[in-house]
Amino acid sequence: MPGITLGDTVPNLEVETTHGKIKLHDYFKNGWTIIFSHPADFTPVCTTELGKMAAFQLEFEKRGAKLLAFSCDNVQSHNKWIKDIEAYTPGCKVTYPIVADPKREILKQLNMVDPDAKDSSGNELPNRALHIVGSDNKIKLSLVYPATTGRNMDEVLRALDALQKVSKYKVATPVNWKPDDPVVISPAVTNEEAKEMFPQGFETKKLPSGLEYLRFTHV
Ligand code: BEZ
Repeated sequence: MPGITLGDTVPNLEVETTHGKIKLHDYFKNGWTIIFSHPADFTPVCTTELGKMAAFQLEFEKRGAKLLAFSCDNVQSHNKWIKDIEAYTPGCKVTYPIVADPKREILKQLNMVDPDAKDSSGNELPNRALHIVGSDNKIKLSLVYPATTGRNMDEVLRALDALQKVSKYKVATPVNWKPDDPVVISPAVTNEEAKEMFPQGFETKKLPSGLEYLRFTHV
């Protein structure tokens, strides 16, 4: 299947949305963008997912990230469905645009189709792809779930925090990392360089191999 993955540039497509026409690269300017597809309007898992994304919108905005949802239904359908989404997740307002792509042309180009999911007429349905895109239009993180598995939006927020942390320092985030947890120093950084880079200090874990590659610090 043609498609985009980690490190690729998202094509500069013009898309029809609930907020009018958008050129993707214009939308991606000046920050991070989370693009995410879902199989269809008026379906149960999707209704819960889009509500949770709306509930988290303020948290994403605090981090300089915008949202853009994708689906294969039309704008009229999306606008009707938004009322259900907002009713299911009280207090949420869907203020992010939802792309309409009834012909699946955009979704196919973005690798957002689930080969195993079909509607009642046998048409392909979108998958649950989610890409975090940088202001350089490149994909920094990708999750691809089938139509039948809802995503964990706490994980999306955590992953965005991790991406933003490692974009500022020569570090990586270890398993189950959360903001304020220690990070690990990148293996390419020597101990001498690490002393300069991290004047706050770092802790090297003693390991049976005797190798000093697991070094924790706070940034
Ligand atoms: C859902 O959103 O619940 C759903 C949509 C398509 C296939 C399976 C589940």
